[in-house]
Amino acid sequence: MSAANARLALDAQPFAPPQNAQQRALHPELSTAHIRFIGLNKTYPGQAAPALSSIDLNIQRGEIFGIIGRSGAGKSSLIRTINRLEQPSSGRVLIDQVDIGEFDEDRLVNLRRRIGMIFQHFNLMSAKTVWQNVELPLKVAGVPKEQRQRKVAALLELVGLQEKHHVYPAQLSGGQKQRVGIARALVHDPEILLCDEATSALDPETTESILGLLRDINQRLGLTIVLITHEMAVIREICHRVVVLEKGHVVEQGAVWQVFGEPQHDVSKTLLAPLQPALPEHLQARLQAQAPGPEAALVLRLRVSGRDKHAPQLSTLFSTLGGRVSLLQGGIESIQGRPLGQLVISVEQSPHSHDNVIERAQGWAAQVEVLGYVV
Ligand SMILES: Nc1ncnc2c1ncn2[C@@H]1O[C@H](COP(=O)(O)OP(=O)(O)OP(=O)(O)O)[C@@H](O)[C@H]1O
Ligand SMILES: [Mg+2]
Repeated sequence: MSAANARLALDAQPFAPPQNAQQRALHPELSTAHIRFIGLNKTYPGQAAPALSSIDLNIQRGEIFGIIGRSGAGKSSLIRTINRLEQPSSGRVLIDQVDIGEFDEDRLVNLRRRIGMIFQHFNLMSAKTVWQNVELPLKVAGVPKEQRQRKVAALLELVGLQEKHHVYPAQLSGGQKQRVGIARALVHDPEILLCDEATSALDPETTESILGLLRDINQRLGLTIVLITHEMAVIREICHRVVVLEKGHVVEQGAVWQVFGEPQHDVSKTLLAPLQPALPEHLQARLQAQAPGPEAALVLRLRVSGRDKHAPQLSTLFSTLGGRVSLLQGGIESIQGRPLGQLVISVEQSPHSHDNVIERAQGWAAQVEVLGYVV
């Protein structure tokens, strides 16, 4: 069955994005970017600074690709060039290696059917029922009634809203409204789904369920998902790769575990800082910048960056540091199967000097930060 037919059937085999070089070699079609930006620039009329500058970026077929950046960084502008809701000032956008820049109206209509989009505020029609909201784009496209009914029923089942088909948006929760938005975005069996802050208006539990649905759609239907969010936890939860935009430029990109584990750019570090727990107040209050004496306990923050796939060995850490090692705060989580996290520890009564303890810790952790000393 072709990928397109699989999508039509809505019951496709699980789809995984290309994992490694070997798999790509076996499936050369997968190594070609699904969406490609080449030297993309965008300056809005009347604006001095460009919203997008020299963007070169590849998004692979079947991946969930995250876009993060401060407010005004150009995220929405970038995503909207994919379905030509925004026209670039220069540069090219290729979808399946076809430049969409020269498309006439007819080809644009077709293109937009291949690309679904969901928004923060759902954009549902309040005077239409759930069913009618999902059916409308099919009606507009002139799809016969019987086919429409089959499609709407299948999509409402996919998003878990069969029971609510007759109600109006006002009678739905935020999460249910977004499910309608997702069903509507999928009516033409798109190959790309664009999500601009699609979970930003939802509470954490509802966000979780919508992310589960997006992941399911990605795997079952093989959709490429491009997702903007200001919630780093969303990226951590479902994205394969992420790009960081700042003032219209790409400042960093990579696998999520890589960017989260060892962010290189200051903007990435700032955006990811909320994921790092603040030090407990009682500890913060006792920390001194200089060691009052050799007997003071050294307080270190050790980062585990995921570069090593194995679980970090605490026994090795303890034996190399020597003395009494106490865990003050921290934990490890798994992102894309990689252990990532941080440990705040204090070391006292070590036979090694403070400087030597720091050096030894550097041999164990990806990054070591000296937080201070306590007595
Ligand atoms: N229609 C427009 N006309 C003029 N300037 C615009 C327009 N849309 C966006 N901009 C400007 O382009 C820049 C990028 O905006 P964009 O909406 O892409 O940012 P964003 O990263 O999506 O921000 P946010 O996180 O706040 O949604 C901003 O400086 C913005 O003011
Ligand atoms: Mg935006």
